[in-house]
Amino acid sequence: MVWIIANWKDKMPLVAAHAWLSVVGSQLPVDPNLKITVCPDENCLKEVKKEVESKNYHISVGMQDLPVVDKDLAEITILGHSSRRQTGETNETVEQKVKQALQGEIIPLVCVQDENTPVPDKVKLIAYEPVFAIGTGNPDTPENANTVAKTLKQKYGESLEVLYGGSVNSHNVAEFISQENISGVLIGRASLDGQEFVRIINACQHLQM
Ligand code: PGA
Repeated sequence: MVWIIANWKDKMPLVAAHAWLSVVGSQLPVDPNLKITVCPDENCLKEVKKEVESKNYHISVGMQDLPVVDKDLAEITILGHSSRRQTGETNETVEQKVKQALQGEIIPLVCVQDENTPVPDKVKLIAYEPVFAIGTGNPDTPENANTVAKTLKQKYGESLEVLYGGSVNSHNVAEFISQENISGVLIGRASLDGQEFVRIINACQHLQM
């Protein structure tokens, strides 16, 4: 299975979120091999969830950080993103939030900067996001991302799913998800454009994993 996760950060106001859903919603494939997820910020999380449910769109809703522990609202939560670590989130706070998420039956997706960032116990889904690649248009090479992912799996167990994040777009996504140790992508900037997000999904689908 391949994860395709849109990380909107704080860049998607509610009006734009509705417009995005109206573009993307009807173009989402029913494909059991793809786990497509959108993570709005706290301000439009409820509204996005409501719309996805009422229109029956084939997309899961996740959240950023852990504003609430409510598995009916979000299936996953992005923890330890580098933007939060830069403003004071520590490995200890990430570990604490992982526990809260797991208790609430929410899947923690922990972002790591490299193979040395600690991954808390019981975490099964992580994203390798090198700081130099985030929002810069300068992604890591798929080969290096694969090597880091392999090291992380050797460290924490083969059942760990490792995503790659950092300047992913519709042109380079296929190369990342073709790597043996990479189970999907976490996408910031390119996910804000609905049509581009659909192109990313199509590029993954055509690989027929
Ligand atoms: P980017 O962001 O795709 O804009 O590089 C990735 C992220 O911050 O998760």
